[in-house]
Amino acid sequence: MAEGDKLEVREITRIERIGAHSHIRGLGLDDVLEARNISQGMVGQKDARKAAGIIVQMVREGKIAGRCVLIAGEPSTGKTAIAVGMAQALGLETPFTSMSGSEIYSLEMSKTEALSQALRKSIGVRIKEETEIIEGEVVEIQIDRPTTGTGQKVGKVTLKTTEMETNYDLGNKIIECFMNAKIQAGDIITIDKASGKVNKLGRSFTRARDYDATGVQTRFVQCPEGELQKRKEVVHTVTLHEIDVINSRTHGFLALFSGDTGEIKQEVRDQINNKVAEWREEGKAEINPGVLFIDEAHMLDVECFSYLNRALESDMAPVVIMATNRGITRIRGTDYKSPHGIPIDLLDRMIIIRTIPYTEKEFKEILKIRCEEEDCQMSSDGLTVLTRIATETSLRYAIQLITTANLLARRRRATEVTIEDVKKVYTLFLDESRSSRILKEYQDEYLFNEGGSIGGSNTKVTPMEVGDN
Ligand SMILES: Nc1ncnc2c1ncn2[C@@H]1O[C@H](COP(=O)(O)OP(=O)(O)O)[C@@H](O)[C@H]1O
Ligand SMILES: [Mg+2]
Repeated sequence: MAEGDKLEVREITRIERIGAHSHIRGLGLDDVLEARNISQGMVGQKDARKAAGIIVQMVREGKIAGRCVLIAGEPSTGKTAIAVGMAQALGLETPFTSMSGSEIYSLEMSKTEALSQALRKSIGVRIKEETEIIEGEVVEIQIDRPTTGTGQKVGKVTLKTTEMETNYDLGNKIIECFMNAKIQAGDIITIDKASGKVNKLGRSFTRARDYDATGVQTRFVQCPEGELQKRKEVVHTVTLHEIDVINSRTHGFLALFSGDTGEIKQEVRDQINNKVAEWREEGKAEINPGVLFIDEAHMLDVECFSYLNRALESDMAPVVIMATNRGITRIRGTDYKSPHGIPIDLLDRMIIIRTIPYTEKEFKEILKIRCEEEDCQMSSDGLTVLTRIATETSLRYAIQLITTANLLARRRRATEVTIEDVKKVYTLFLDESRSSRILKEYQDEYLFNEGGSIGGSNTKVTPMEVGDN
């Protein structure tokens, strides 16, 4: 791009999509980890939320490796919502990897490789690096352009602190940086000696009245004190998985963007573990263990469970949180039954958080929050009916009806969703139990029917009670 060309940047409005858990902003706990009634989008389920808060605290302290937590409870009791709340409470600094048990059955890599990558994505490494920088106020810049217009530029800059002043010769690359950052006399800048990166910290206070043209955004800073050359510590946070990918010769760092990382050799991982251990000893790196959340954990099979069992013993292991809605059921890959479909030896390591069904009042509050989240003006009798539907069918189904009823109301150009809208969508869209009832009544007319072998019926059964098979 030629110099002086104006780069046009159009304003981008980001569209935040509304997801199943987008109303959850944290666990809604107070200072002593007591769950507030309704807070940060969370309603009820207080014991489970408090327990989750204790786990969050444990992760934050980062001292304990390889603990395993199971969140168990009926469908729609907020297991996934609590995990989302935990991730929010931990913040962006702590790695939180979320996956579903079924994700390991991908064709691209073995199940244990997928788990291994997920575990390593959940371990952050803070790498401390000392760099030498030059920090000072620009007294004067002089750049000589070659008369031909092309070729190397040469230049000089004079920088000062409150105590000293020095001249530096500028190479072509740094001159480019100076020009891009529009550095001029009176700016306080830093130059990274290793990379040549130039950073503008602001304008010197002494120049505050030089120009009328300084905009309101101009930041004024003091002229630095002491030596011009300083040592500065910078911290990069990466995950073990990112280090693996970058150092795996077959893939290279571009794989980080495509996500197409394939399998990583054990040798590479061993080398990296050794290197990180070395850095830790030298005080160059700290590890920041996070959380691996495996939803629908009953989808894992016995190989995976055994792999996790072993992996949890490593001192670099994250805290693993699993969620399941299964009761006593078959462990995948075996003929044995076990609570939650998880082998006893792994269960033995776990602490279990139980989620319990909601009361009608809690359903109402959750639905109210969802209406707000979806920008839906629900009439009060509409909300009462929805609550009724949630207690009699399922919370998820009732949440779906908000969206559909809202659309109907908007089509009518109505500002409020009425009880009629809710009734209409209730008849247009079936819930699971009505659908199974109809299937039973009309089974002869469907293709591939196997006469009554369908699990569902009009009596409501929850997986917690019956298990898989
Ligand atoms: N305590 C709660 N507070 C607010 N929203 C909740 C709560 N529990 C569940 N939800 C919402 O209800 C829906 C179903 O809950 P979900 O967490 O998916 O259930 P589960 O994972 O236990 O099957 C989701 O949209 C979830 O965000
Ligand atoms: Mg879930």
